[in-house]
Order: sequence, then C-alpha cells, then structure tokens
Amino acid sequence: MTRSYEIPAGAVAVDDYERLARERLSPEAFAYYSGGAADELTISWNREAFDRVRLRTRVLGDLAGGGTGLTLFGQSFDYPILLAPTAHHRLAAPEAEIATVVGAGGARAGMVVSTESDLTLEEIAKPARMPLWFQLYIQHDRGFTAELVRRAEAAGYGALVVTVDSPVFSPRNREQRAGYRAPKLSEHANTRGLHTTYVAEAALGESLMFRGYLDVTARWADIDWLRSITRLPILLKGIMAPEDAELAIRHGADGIVVSNHGGRVLDTMPASLDALPGVARQVAGRVPVLMDGGIRRGTDVLKALALGACAVMVGRPYLYGLAVAGPAGVAHVLHLLRCEFEVAMVLAGCRTLADIGPDVIWRGEPQ
Ligand code: FNR
Ligand code: LAC
Repeated sequence: MTRSYEIPAGAVAVDDYERLARERLSPEAFAYYSGGAADELTISWNREAFDRVRLRTRVLGDLAGGGTGLTLFGQSFDYPILLAPTAHHRLAAPEAEIATVVGAGGARAGMVVSTESDLTLEEIAKPARMPLWFQLYIQHDRGFTAELVRRAEAAGYGALVVTVDSPVFSPRNREQRAGYRAPKLSEHANTRGLHTTYVAEAALGESLMFRGYLDVTARWADIDWLRSITRLPILLKGIMAPEDAELAIRHGADGIVVSNHGGRVLDTMPASLDALPGVARQVAGRVPVLMDGGIRRGTDVLKALALGACAVMVGRPYLYGLAVAGPAGVAHVLHLLRCEFEVAMVLAGCRTLADIGPDVIWRGEPQ
C-alpha cells in the first residue's frame, strides 16, 4: 500500500488531526490511541482544566529580540514542547517510530521514546536530529532494566524518563469494547524475550492484585539503584502529589513530569494542570518540572508554563498527525502548536519564557 504524506487542506488545528485520524485508523487502533481508563472522566478533565483558565493580555510592550528557546539538562530546545512517550507507532504508520522521529526532527522538537516502541531504541536514535530521551519502565527483571539503561546511554539518549504511575493499569473499557489487544511485552522490540510477571484476570473469588505481583514492582529504592547505575539525568513521570515530588528529589531525581498518563491509568484522577501548581510550589525551582495531559492548543502551553511548568509534552496530538500524514503530519502538528504558542506569548506580553508567570492568567478584576 502506498501512502500519501500530504497535509490535508483542512488540517489547521490539532482537533482536525483527531477527526481525520479517526477516519484513517482502524477502530481498534483509534480506541487504543484516544481512549483511557474506565469512563474517561480524567481525559475530559485534562481538557476542561485548560478551558477554565483565561488569559490576560498586555499591549504595546517591546518584545523585539525575544524567543522561545530553553535549555534542559544542558540540552538546547527551540521551544518548550516535546513529544511524550507513546507506545506502538506502527498502528499509525508502517515506518512506525522512524516516521515520528523524522517528523520531530523536521519540527525541531525533542522526543521521548517509549520502552514499548515498535522499533528498537537504537533504530529510532539513528535518524534523530534533536535530543532524544528514553522513557523507562522499570521491568520486574532488574538486570534487564539495567541493560536497557546501558543501551539508551550507548545510543546517545540524553535523559531517562522513568514512568512511575502505572505499576498496573486499570481496565480501559473503550479498548476492550473495540477488541484491541496489546502485544505482549516479550514481543516488543526493546524487551524481546523478557520474562514478565503478568497480572492475569483473577478467577472469581480471588484477589487480582495481591498475589505476589506487588513484590516485584518498582519502589523508591529502585530509583536509588537507577541513580547509582547511570549518569544520565533521571526524570520521574507521573507525579501528581507534592509529597511524591519531594521524595523524588530526595531519591536523586533531576526532573519531574506532572502527568496522569493522559487519563489512561486511573479514572477520576484530577487533571494534570490542576495538580501542577502544588507540585511546582513544593519543588520550588530545585529541579525542572514538566507536565503533560490535554494540551491541544498553543494557549494551553502558555497556561502550563504560567502555572509552573518549564516545558510540556504532547501525546495523542502527534499520534494523530502520524496517522494522517506520517512524518509530515507529526511535524505539522508540532508546528501548529508552536505557532499558536508564540502568538499567545506575544499577546500576553511575554518576550521570553522567563516572562511567562502567574500574571498571564486572568484572575478577575480586583473589586
Ligand atoms: C501513552 N503514554 C505513555 N506513557 C509512557 O510513559 N509510556 C508509554 O509507553 C506510553 N504509551 C502511551 C500510548 C498512547 C497511545 C498514549 C495516548 C499515551 C502517556 C503519554 O506519555 C502522555 O502522558 C499522555 O499521552 C499525555 O496526554 P495527551 O497529550 O495524550 O492528552
Ligand atoms: C499506554 C502504556 C503503554 O499508556 O503506557 O498504553
């Protein structure tokens, strides 16, 4: 099958890509990409939280010579939007993560590569033009985990993003109803042959969780261990509680990603944006705080930065771009978000990222 990688004429915003992706993906793949846990309330709250926030504009400032550049862990980025780690890009494009990384390079965006990619982390690193970070799931087999870290270092990845929010996933009913079946971890490109402890469905009258499975899942001591085996910066992804942000720093984390995994782990968790200010206050500038979940507009990026993030990540938006137009679609989605963000910055009177603070948020007229 030949594929056209043209940008469709009507694709002018992330929502257009979602609509077009729904037409192009199989129903199972669309359910996997777009869905989340249970009733998907957290998914809708991730959006509503942004929609509730209003922006306060400023006029006639001198913004000449400004820009959106930033440095994270000594690595330079043109703008504060990265590709969040997402699994299984082959569902969207035959070239899988190669198409994504080429698109990210075209848009000059940093990318976080999932442990559960359809190509190996080495294959994805080759065509990279921008910093790549590796998202690590700590495997039950710690020796295998150490080998993944060594491979990421050797392939030139610039940081480890350790996802800590999902020792288990609660059921994703939309996927189940659509008949989506995830490949086994032992069949994934990066974890081929890995022996895993699966939580099978519990027999009637048996406990699902508490039968030894939790003896082997990651805990804080594993972060100390990771810290001892790598010099790469370590970010913990999936922190929502200020107490956990504090523990993360104490256990040597170099960065934090406030995230509810795009509403895919536990339904009725609050929006990531609502958890962000508390975490940012606790961290108080000691390490960079990133966030993801629900970003669909450049104005959302401005709001997240105003509420304490130094950069954001997007997940589904670029998957939809990938499904619609391969690398060009990925690049275009990032480009749209970047352009919208720049416009919002200018109209809010911000010359550089350092100017984005709480006063870009409208709090109502003083009475
Ligand atoms: C994800 N996410 C994710 N996170 C992670 O740490 N490792 C992973 O392998 C995946 N896989 C994955 C697959 C798909 C299809 C989606 C949609 C998401 C979560 C992801 O990194 C991020 O937290 C959310 O996608 C952010 O929310 P938005 O931007 O999709 O609303
Ligand atoms: C997901 C896993 C792979 O959200 O992180 O689908």
